[in-house]
Amino acid sequence: MKNTETITLIDNSTGKKLELPILRPTVGTPTIDVRGLYKELGYFTYDPGFLATASCQSAITYLDGEKGVLRYRGYPIEELAEKSTFLEVCYLLYYGNLPNEKQFDDFQEDIRQHTLLHEALRSFYTGFRRDAHPMGIMVGVVGALSSFFHDHENVHDAKLRQRAAHRLIAKMPTIAAWSYRYAHGLPFMYPQNHLDYASNFLYMMFAMPTEEYTPPPLFVKALDLIMILHADHEQNASTSTVRLTGSSEANPFAAVSAGIASLWGPAHGGANEAVIQMLLDISNSDNDVQHYIDRAKDKTDRFRLMGFGHRIYKNYDPRAVIIRNMCHKILQQLEPGNDYQELFDTAMKIESVALKDDYFKSRNLYPNVDYYSGIILLAMKIPLNMFTVIFALSRTIGWISHWNEMMQDPESRIGRPRQLYSGEELRNYAKLDKR
Ligand code: CMC
Repeated sequence: MKNTETITLIDNSTGKKLELPILRPTVGTPTIDVRGLYKELGYFTYDPGFLATASCQSAITYLDGEKGVLRYRGYPIEELAEKSTFLEVCYLLYYGNLPNEKQFDDFQEDIRQHTLLHEALRSFYTGFRRDAHPMGIMVGVVGALSSFFHDHENVHDAKLRQRAAHRLIAKMPTIAAWSYRYAHGLPFMYPQNHLDYASNFLYMMFAMPTEEYTPPPLFVKALDLIMILHADHEQNASTSTVRLTGSSEANPFAAVSAGIASLWGPAHGGANEAVIQMLLDISNSDNDVQHYIDRAKDKTDRFRLMGFGHRIYKNYDPRAVIIRNMCHKILQQLEPGNDYQELFDTAMKIESVALKDDYFKSRNLYPNVDYYSGIILLAMKIPLNMFTVIFALSRTIGWISHWNEMMQDPESRIGRPRQLYSGEELRNYAKLDKR
């Protein structure tokens, strides 16, 4: 990264000048290195929500929100979605390059060898209420993994980090599927290691010990695609949470558990669940799309068009285009006039009304990845409250790749933001009877 260029900052109150280095990324927006600012001029920078702040450097994922570009390790998301598989994408994200045949065979074999959970973990599930949200179970069970793998407390050992990554990739489908099985009083199905990654998850979700089960091939493909599209998205809220948690050298399982908690919110991964809820509400209101569009525009109403808008994308989210196409394919396979087709039609109608509306146009609000993914999941008979769990399962590779990158970065330090204090100045303590 070149940093011979600078930008000059002049403090008008003192006349002091400071040359701040401009860091040029390999591709993307130049970044001003403000680390000397406090020491030299005595100022902090103020940027709630990190609108213009790079919290780290990273070589994993590149986004151009204006042009709607997303690349993992330089590869366009469209190419990966068409040609790759989720496990290959996992290898790419973690190790930096696509694997050769031998590397991929070894990787897949290692993932297969780690799919089982410690038997003692089974009893953790029974401690939860049956109606617990599976994301709550995920936070607990993934966090609990840290109590099974003490060796991972040494976060500076690259081999142990790799083992943690493989364990997480391998165990997450089992943990996720079991959170569903527990809630429905169904027997836990153990992983079948001859199955591919997506099939194995669907098997653990839907198979019964009493019956043969083969997941429909198009569902397997659709799930694999959804996982590829959700695998990473640079410094989003949950990934930043994993980095911040991990920056204190906390155990990786604890850090990923924190990431799951952050993902849960409706402004982040919880949006896919919220989109379906919104589409159902609209269907139940005789498809009064305009009413919901008006509500979304009304600043006195907290309602937002779920699955619309993105902090980075000011254009169509490239993942939404791919997912919408898959949604079409899935619906074509189902019987005509099915309920999902109706939801899809409603979603398309909202999209077309919103994209012509000045409110959405002027704010660059387009459908995001969550807008159509829920319809696919619903058509696959995945229950609504498992949608965000599938997002978490897919994003685990992104979280752990960022954590691993951070642990190797000589510039990384414990995350410790500053603040613009707005509280009282000095006050002195008064006794109770004097207040
Ligand atoms: N419906 C109506 N208005 C919206 C929406 C929406 N979905 N999203 C943004 N706006 C408005 C917002 O009110 C604001 O208007 P104004 O300038 O008049 O105050 C303007 O657009 C900018 O929005 P913002 O909230 O400042 O933007 P943000 O970058 O802080 O928030 C967001 C991004 C994704 C949280 C937001 O767009 C949103 O809440 N969308 C709905 C939830 C959703 O779909 N989330 C999934 C995100 S993609 C998956 C993921 O990465 O997790």
